[in-house]
Amino acid sequence: MAVTSIIKGTGSYLPEKVLTNADLEKMVDTTDEWIVQRSGIKERCIAAENETTGMMAIEAAKSAMDAAGFSASDIDGVIVATTTPDRTFPSVAAKVQGELNIPHGLAFDIQAVCTGFVYALATADNFIKMGQAKRILVIGAEKMSSIVDWKDRTTCVLFADGAGAVILEAAENDKGLEGQGIHSTHLYANGSRRELLQTSGGASTTGDAGVIEMQGRDVFKYAVTYMADVVEETLKHNNISSDAIDWLVPHQANIRIIESTAKKLDMPMDKVVVTVDRHGNTSAASIPLALDEAVRDGRIKRGEMLLIEAMGGGLTWGAALVRF
Ligand code: UT7
Repeated sequence: MAVTSIIKGTGSYLPEKVLTNADLEKMVDTTDEWIVQRSGIKERCIAAENETTGMMAIEAAKSAMDAAGFSASDIDGVIVATTTPDRTFPSVAAKVQGELNIPHGLAFDIQAVCTGFVYALATADNFIKMGQAKRILVIGAEKMSSIVDWKDRTTCVLFADGAGAVILEAAENDKGLEGQGIHSTHLYANGSRRELLQTSGGASTTGDAGVIEMQGRDVFKYAVTYMADVVEETLKHNNISSDAIDWLVPHQANIRIIESTAKKLDMPMDKVVVTVDRHGNTSAASIPLALDEAVRDGRIKRGEMLLIEAMGGGLTWGAALVRF
């Protein structure tokens, strides 16, 4: 019987403060119309000073643990996908483990920018399938507002803050694709295009975290192509058509990229979880935030098939096929 990783619970945390497009009109030379037409974003949450990536990760983790009915002693691993850690080191994962009194299993961060959650999910799934962990807390948490240049209208209208979490548990599956669990993960990077989306600095160069610099139009073209490629590969690998997918849970960067992937899959938009209008682009947090919203409002039900996909800086991209 094959070992698989089941999503036992989901959780999330959003900062209280909402920044609308009207607020941004007062800060940079932009309009609500431009932002909505080009990205689909209407508002986003921006963290206060005390709402650090670690704090938001901890809150998301607590709500996932409540949903799964697990206490800290049940968990033996913590993986946090983030680009905006509280400190260069130790990891946000170590902070989550320490603050929640989770036992001394593995704890580390993964940095794959907007694809971070898919990378973290795949990594946790592999640890579980190798028998090296039984229950892993997988978190995507970001305070993107801390690395945004608030004078750059091409990026400051897009990025935002938040955290989402899932708990994976090892289980046996003898039903193939009909069984619950992570059926496949697909990860990629094209480092030769890393300059299209980067920060202006870092610890070993400028000595600070830097701010986001993005060639939006070029990233957009790569996103559309890579998303189409990776979802097609995921279906082919599992020998299914898009009819088998109940929900597309995409990274929330731009509604036009999401619509293009849905069209490629021939999926109606009512089978796509969309939060970009209210959350903006929360990088590694966007997928677990979207997943948790759709689980809690009853759209995503147990036993349904999810296709998860993301693309971001690196360039990185990836997908996962999961029966919830
Ligand atoms: O999550 C990680 C991956 N990231 C992404 O997937 C983001 C991918 N890129 C995008 O989503 C889109 O490229 C953007 C939303 C960033 C931009 O949309 P676009 O349709 O590609 O616009 P553009 O960059 O081609 O800019 C069009 C015009 C430019 O003016 P000119 O050169 O045509 O005169 C920009 O200067 O819009 C101007 N512009 C703005 N105008 C008003 C750029 N930002 C703004 C703004 N408000 N905030």
